[in-house]
Amino acid sequence: NEGSLWGARFASGPSPELQRLSKSTHFDWQLARYDLAGSRAHARALAAAGYLEASELDAMLAGLDALEARIESGDLVATDTDEDVHGALEAALIAEVGPEIGGKLRAGRSRNDQIATLVRLYLKDHAATIGRDLVHLVDALAAQADAHRTAIMPGRTHLQHAQPVLLAHHLLAHAWALSRDLERLVDWTKRADVSPYGGGALAGSTLGLDAASVAHDLGLATPSENSIDGTASRDVVAEFAFVTAMIGIDVSRIAEEIILWNTREFGFVTLHDGYSTGSSIMPQKKNPDIAELARGKSGRLIGNLTGLLATLKALPLAYNRDLQEDKEPVFDSVETLEVLLPAFTGMIATLTFHTDRMAALAPAGFSLATDVAEWLVKRKVPFRDAHEITGALVRAAEQRGVGLEDLDDAALAEVSPLLTPDVREVLTIEGSVASRSGIGGTAPERVAEQFAKLADRVRHL
Ligand code: ARG
Repeated sequence: NEGSLWGARFASGPSPELQRLSKSTHFDWQLARYDLAGSRAHARALAAAGYLEASELDAMLAGLDALEARIESGDLVATDTDEDVHGALEAALIAEVGPEIGGKLRAGRSRNDQIATLVRLYLKDHAATIGRDLVHLVDALAAQADAHRTAIMPGRTHLQHAQPVLLAHHLLAHAWALSRDLERLVDWTKRADVSPYGGGALAGSTLGLDAASVAHDLGLATPSENSIDGTASRDVVAEFAFVTAMIGIDVSRIAEEIILWNTREFGFVTLHDGYSTGSSIMPQKKNPDIAELARGKSGRLIGNLTGLLATLKALPLAYNRDLQEDKEPVFDSVETLEVLLPAFTGMIATLTFHTDRMAALAPAGFSLATDVAEWLVKRKVPFRDAHEITGALVRAAEQRGVGLEDLDDAALAEVSPLLTPDVREVLTIEGSVASRSGIGGTAPERVAEQFAKLADRVRHL
């Protein structure tokens, strides 16, 4: 069984059906770079412990460098008989430097501790990329908020008009959610910063290799405290998949609003031509495909997470081949977000908001009713009564087919003598928004404070 990692105890080689099932090079080739980094660190540990002469180490490192160059140029690719990237690269190293030296690399390590380490290296790199992409999206939302500091829109609950809010307040609400996703990524990194290398198949190694130096070599903070845990756990992978799913979900909530706002009925936004699509039959169409893809892909990210959790459920210790199923979902989540986030950010950054339309609709649906009720409370009316009076006022306006602000003095007095004409001071959307000035409220000065706080939070993560 030439080029295989095992074989001597088998009377025959693997069947073709097994080979087809077992093969993972079509996806784990993405780990090639990390596999070589792991091998360099492991070779140094072998040399430090006296298992490789200095000249052998040099030859091995040169061989690993040569493999890296060949992988980058596309010259070295998996063959039909390679099972996984780890076996393929060991075979390629042996071909490169000869079996005398190449055959020494595998001492004291197993694919089990290798892959558990390499997937962390892969995810740490991509956490940094996704983190940067998220910062760009937060920045784009904040820039749009900054450009529309005074614009007022209908705030909604149950998708119904509720109370007017600043557009900036609304956009920053999405940015705050994404800032927590960023915080989740950063926090995840602490748990990912551990190296299972040295755990061997499950129980550790007899060779006295320095696992801490291997960890540091790989840019990981510390070796695993428990070799069984190190080789068999994948909660770090599942947690990463959760964070990517949460990002997808938070982005999908923005996406859904963009889709609605972009309809003729809302008319709140216009998409930039470069970030919208046409129709093959309807010449007039301009569709929000980026937002729809974001909404759709959030489902895929959730699927990757639930698939991973299902793989891990009830899996006995230590390594089981089931664990190979950790890679495709999490690779897919990474690729999905790394393609989606830049497009989504571009769409946000280039959105045109129709603030006149938003402002015109902001008082509709009697959205200033709470302002009237709280105006009464400030005049010592118990809120229960204020709620009743204002409810009657809404009914009166609805019967006449007008807004609250359109009722004349007599109509106000008819509802309640407490509704004196000066109630109109709270019947403007500007007055309504300005008066919500408690911490976290939608008053312009409160919203203005959020910019620096958000930027600070994002930069200090
Ligand atoms: N490619 C496998 C994985 O990603 C590693 C194989 C280790 N196999 C084994 N039988 N110990 O999980």
